[in-house]
Parts: sequence; C-alpha cells; structure tokens
Amino acid sequence: MCQPAHHTTSRRRAVLGLASIAAATLTRTTSAQADFALELRPPLRRQAAASRVKYGCAGAAPLFLDDGILLEKMAGEADIFVPEAHLKWQFTEPAPNLFDFAGPDSIVDFSARHDMIMHGHTLVWYAANPDWVTRLATATAARNALERHIGTLVERYRGKVWAWDAVNEPIEPKDGLEAGYRSSIWQRLLGNEHVDLAFRLARAADPATPLSLNEYGFEYSTAESRNRRRDILALLQNLRDRNTPVDCFGLQSHLVGHQSFDHKELTQFLRSVTALGYRLMITELDVNDAQIPGTLAERDQAVARHVEEYLDIVCAVAEPASMSTWGLSDRYTWLPQYFHRADGKPLRPLPLDRDFNRKPMWEVLAKLV
Ligand code: XIL
Repeated sequence: MCQPAHHTTSRRRAVLGLASIAAATLTRTTSAQADFALELRPPLRRQAAASRVKYGCAGAAPLFLDDGILLEKMAGEADIFVPEAHLKWQFTEPAPNLFDFAGPDSIVDFSARHDMIMHGHTLVWYAANPDWVTRLATATAARNALERHIGTLVERYRGKVWAWDAVNEPIEPKDGLEAGYRSSIWQRLLGNEHVDLAFRLARAADPATPLSLNEYGFEYSTAESRNRRRDILALLQNLRDRNTPVDCFGLQSHLVGHQSFDHKELTQFLRSVTALGYRLMITELDVNDAQIPGTLAERDQAVARHVEEYLDIVCAVAEPASMSTWGLSDRYTWLPQYFHRADGKPLRPLPLDRDFNRKPMWEVLAKLV
C-alpha cells in the first residue's frame, strides 16, 4: 500500500474507474494515499453491523431523484434512509384527507431492496405544512387534522419505519412564549398540549415504533444554546411527568464549525436527558463551515475535528441508537439555502465530497459506528 502519492492518485482513478473525477479533486487532496486507503475501507453500514449504532443519511425519495450514483452510495453506506422532504405534511397530505404517498413509498421500496429502513421524519412541525393547515382556525379543526394525519401515516408505515420524529422543533425561546414553546399553528390553536397529544396519537396508531422529540441548537457556549438547553430539558421533564409516550431525544446536530462546544453544560444537559429515561439519537448531523478559514484540506480537517469533539461528548454520556447525517455528499446539502462563505467557495458539511469521495469526516463517523 505504501506508494508515492502521485502514483497512488492515478492508480486510484484507474482502480475505481472514476473517469468523472474532476481535475480539482486531484489538486484538492493533500495525501492521495490516505484517500485511496479510505475508499477501500468497508462502508459505514458494514462497520455499524459490528457495533450497534446504525448509520443513516437523509436524501430525496428515489422517485424524485435522478442521481443514480448518490442512491448507490446511500445504499452502500447507510442502514437508514431519512426522507429529507417527502414525509413532510405538505407532500403527504397536500389537501384535507387527500394523501399522496408516492415519495415515501419509493423510499420504503428502495429500502427493502437494499436492506435499509426508513426513518420517520416528521409528523408535527411548524414548517413544511400545506396552506390549508396554516389556515386552520379552531382547536377542534386542528385536533381533527392531527388525529387523521398522524393516524394515517403511522399506521401506513407500521413496521417500515425505524423511529418517528413525532414532534419536530417545538422549542424557540426567541418567540417569547412561556417555557420557550415555539409559536406554531399547533401551539396557537391547541396550546402546549399539542406536543403531548401528538405523541399519544402516534403511540395509539403503532405501539411498537420508538417516538422521538427532535430538536436543534443546544450545543454551544452561547446564550441562545443555553436558553434552548434549559427549555428543551424542561419540556422533556414535563413530558415524563405526564407519562407522555416519548422514547428518544433526537439531537439534530446541525453543527456550526466555528463555534465552541460547552463541554460541561452540554454533558450535563445530555446526562439529565438520559437520566429521564430518554434514548439519544443523532438525527441530522452536518457541519456549517461557512466561517472556517483555510484551504479545502484544512477546512475538511477542521470539520472532522469538530464532529469528533461532538461525538466524544455525546458518547461519553450514552451511545446513541443511531447516527444520521443530513445528506451524504457535499453535492446535495440544504445549507446553501441559508449560508454562504465570504470567499464564494461551496460548503463542505458532509462525509463525502461533491465527487462522492470520502472525507476526513467520514473517518470520524467510521470510528463511532
Ligand atoms: C430542511 C431541508 O433539508 C430543506 O431542503 C428544506 O428547504 C427545509 O427543511 N431541521 C429539520 C429538517 O428537521 O426537516 C430540515 O430540512 C432542516 C432542519
């Protein structure tokens, strides 16, 4: 395996048959030999089989995705297929009681063919709702809509979903409501009760599939993260006190590469969460590197170190049931919808680069799964 880097590079291209590798890829790598070794490592899902932390990644439904290489890479690397969009309300129930399951069904089919399982993302969220939901006007109408929607989806995908993010992002301290609840259509019409109601409806429709409360923005030593930790924990405590059927806390883990973790407070927060009996799941990991300086290789290293530091903190508290990234390749990431680098270069938040080559972040994930 020990070869001069320039030989390794051309051999790598030949061996992998990657005629499409852009010239940029060759100048990008600082150590072609290390990359070559990386490409030959068994996929994350094979390594996950030996441990217990399943690896998942988010993507569009196969029916709506024409990138065969991405799908092949997803099937190769992941145990769990997370629908980035197609289980959201605007797609599944675009008009009242008119359901469309084409997207999620294609994920279930694809998953069955590739020995994967779908993650249920998501049932109740403030966003991605169709217009008719945003125009609901009474508590009764909201309750009826939740009952029908949750019941229909959860029953349909019984046994085909690994876990449901039953409630997504119910906390937003900046909205100024009591206890940090987010102001959403559900909160406005049903009050804080909507969270408990959603979990009970989901559990009634399927007693077996784990249910999670999925949240973001609690990792750092900022006032914002601190407020979120406080309000998320109070909500999780409240749900326990009421015996609400919530099994997992989903750590979205949309990390911000230039910020500093609050080791002590984050550890304490996660300990409190697990002490309440919640299992941890990492659900949407990626790293926003909009403000990380340096060459591409330096940025990739910084992203990998950031993920490693984070996973070390989480795993020192409890092994997560699963670890999913929000996408697989830098070619397809949601972050540029909101974030850009001052130097105009594309973001590199995920385990594979734009040409589907494994990056240092992939290596860090391989250590955990
Ligand atoms: C994002 C998608 O990735 C985007 O393409 C879409 O425009 C907005 O939603 N937290 C979540 C996900 O729970 O559903 C969001 O997905 C990203 C943040």
